Amino acid sequence: MGKQIARWYILYSVFLFAIQSFVALLGATSLVYPDLPSPVSFEYGRAIHLFLATFWPAMGMMGIVQHFTIVQLKEDLYSPQISKWQFFILLFSSLGQLGTLTLGIGNGREYLDGLLVFYGGIALGILLGTYNLLKTVWLHRKKATPVLGVMSIGMVFLCMLLIPNLVRYHNPVAVEAIKFWVVHLWEEMAFELMASGFIMAFFIINGIVKQKDMENWLYLESSLSVVGGLFGTGHHYFWIGFPAIWLFLGTFFSVVQSIPVFLLAIMIYKGLKKKWLTKNREKLVLYMIISSIFHHLTGATLLGLFITIPWVNLYTHGTYLTSGHAHLALFGTMGFLVLGGAYYILSENQSLEKRSYQYGVIGILLLNVGLIVMSTLLIIAGLIQAYFWRGLNMDFMEVSSMIFPYLFFRVLGGGLFTLGSAIIVYQIFKIWWTTTRKTNQQSY
Ligand code: HEM
Ligand code: HEM
Repeated sequence: MGKQIARWYILYSVFLFAIQSFVALLGATSLVYPDLPSPVSFEYGRAIHLFLATFWPAMGMMGIVQHFTIVQLKEDLYSPQISKWQFFILLFSSLGQLGTLTLGIGNGREYLDGLLVFYGGIALGILLGTYNLLKTVWLHRKKATPVLGVMSIGMVFLCMLLIPNLVRYHNPVAVEAIKFWVVHLWEEMAFELMASGFIMAFFIINGIVKQKDMENWLYLESSLSVVGGLFGTGHHYFWIGFPAIWLFLGTFFSVVQSIPVFLLAIMIYKGLKKKWLTKNREKLVLYMIISSIFHHLTGATLLGLFITIPWVNLYTHGTYLTSGHAHLALFGTMGFLVLGGAYYILSENQSLEKRSYQYGVIGILLLNVGLIVMSTLLIIAGLIQAYFWRGLNMDFMEVSSMIFPYLFFRVLGGGLFTLGSAIIVYQIFKIWWTTTRKTNQQSY
């Protein structure tokens, strides 16, 4: 029962991703042609885009955690009923948020724009999910594994980091700082902990990495991502009114938080050199995980470290360079992982015919190429802004016209990305439909 409900989370997450890519493409077009007619203003379109950017990966992660908890314990959830309630609360709150933002009702807060009541609903949904997960693990604690412990901690953080954002603060520094507990810490701490179960299960089941090595990595990853993640948030505190010591803390802990991904990449590289996968389903999931690790190493970590250096950040802060990093890190790392998890779970016990596999490969390639084209152009636009606008104090509008061609061609990158997302989303829904039909036929 719980596994069935986990599939709802995953399907809803993938559905939102499809909408996000399509609408974002229209947004990127209206950025270069602002006079095109549009039912939603750019600023609210951007708010919807940013809401989805954090929400659909969170929804998918919750489904993945629920699924792996049941698989690891070989027991159902403490209460599938709570899980159902949680799902509907999250569904209605997110639809409410999207609906009101579309109508132009919001609070102007970047990333957390929208009505507080819907964020309250999202927090309640996550709270119920956390309670259900902890209660399930506690009831079967004799069978609990380190992975379950780490995934549960991730879920607790997801909840704890959102709740302070439901309070209104008068101090603008507090408002900004706490916002990054969702923007930074959801991604770089909570999601990473939650995703570790999927990464571990996949590589151990397929015999690529030994259980012991993976467990050692898990302990290191969880401790460094908590310590590094918490203090690494400091790279967002540079120019918003925090004491100067945060320039040092933010930079130092950003380096610390980067270590586990390098270790994971080395371990998987060695494992794959010894053993390559042969089954189509597993190969597709592997390509998505490899894509995630690649973007985690490059766009998230290396580029992230570069823009963390305070002397660099002084010039690049809030330019298109940040946007390039945000796309590579958020979709490249987390998005690919959620899509990989979604595919893996929805195609459980299925083998994949050659044609679907080939479409899957094309979809993943297009997503990667589209993302890289789009983000590279944003990075170049950002460097131009940093040099001419921030460095040489050239007029903002003059610099904006200099970056126009890059924003224009970014739309083409977005087009490739959207095509890739349509193919992957179609493949995911197709495999879900096939498995659901088979299960229904078997139960007759
Ligand atoms: C077709 C694909 C996409 C296109 C065309 C697109 C377009 C845009 C546009 C126009 C903006 C406004 C700022 C800017 O011009 O860069 C933006 C911002 C952003 N997008 Fe996307 N996007 C796409 C996919 C995604 C995905 C899949 C995610 C994450 C799951 C994402 C996350 C973000 C974030 C975090 C920002 C804020 C960046 C910042 O300004 O700091 N985008 N995107
Ligand atoms: C998967 C991991 C990561 C994700 C999902 C992620 C996501 C993001 C997003 C969405 C933003 C834009 C925030 C905004 O618009 O204000 C951002 C900014 C930033 N990120 Fe990351 N990031 C990741 C990893 C890293 C790492 C490892 C570092 C450094 C080592 C880093 C350094 C930065 C810095 C310095 C900024 C601020 C840029 C500015 O001042 O405009 N990020 N990140």
